[in-house]
Amino acid sequence: MLDQARRKGATDSVVLLRASAQVPPFSDSNADVVFMSMVYHHFADPVVVAKECRRVLRDGGHVCIRNSTCEADFPHRHFLPAMRSLIESELPARNDIGVVFRAAGFTPVLHEIVRQVVAPNWPTFVHKSSLRADSFLARLSNEDFSPGMASCMLMVKVPIGMMPLQRKSIGLCSSSRFDNVTATQAPPAELAGA
Ligand SMILES: C[S@@+](CC[C@H](N)C(=O)[O-])C[C@H]1O[C@@H](n2cnc3c(N)ncnc32)[C@H](O)[C@@H]1O
Repeated sequence: MLDQARRKGATDSVVLLRASAQVPPFSDSNADVVFMSMVYHHFADPVVVAKECRRVLRDGGHVCIRNSTCEADFPHRHFLPAMRSLIESELPARNDIGVVFRAAGFTPVLHEIVRQVVAPNWPTFVHKSSLRADSFLARLSNEDFSPGMASCMLMVKVPIGMMPLQRKSIGLCSSSRFDNVTATQAPPAELAGA
């Protein structure tokens, strides 16, 4: 992944490094933004990651989390029943992320559902899925995968333009260190009870 990023021609002012989000090699209060994309569900201990985000961010810094949640309507879940239990057990619930970051001292300021096209049409979706280049698809047994793909193949007859969509959540939290800051937006309803 680092090689891919280097090939994109990062400038000298960009430092690319590999490290665990649970032990980020950054000093305290030194970052303006932490952005994480599709990594939250891999964390062994999200509570530690949230505390580390708080540690490395300056006052008023932000953490932006982009991740699939178990509420997401993955196209695969309609064809592969075994995928549902993986989605439900391994992906965080939308509200859980808010709970973890509020406990670490963050104030939710924005939550957005992002609809992402996972394939431009059903034939491409079927082809992509058959490669099993996805950690959930890769973990299904052949007995679970093959019948699901057979029913998915029927979708190839669906007119191009009816694209499979997937929803991802984006949350933005402020790391202000003052409890009485009121400049942040009211948390969205689904995070307000966190
Ligand atoms: C599904 S990929 C997402 C890649 C990319 N960020 C994106 O949005 O396309 C998951 C990434 O999480 C990284 N990852 C997993 N556990 C991690 C951890 N504890 N700390 C930092 N990164 C982690 C993996 O190395 C992998 O690159």
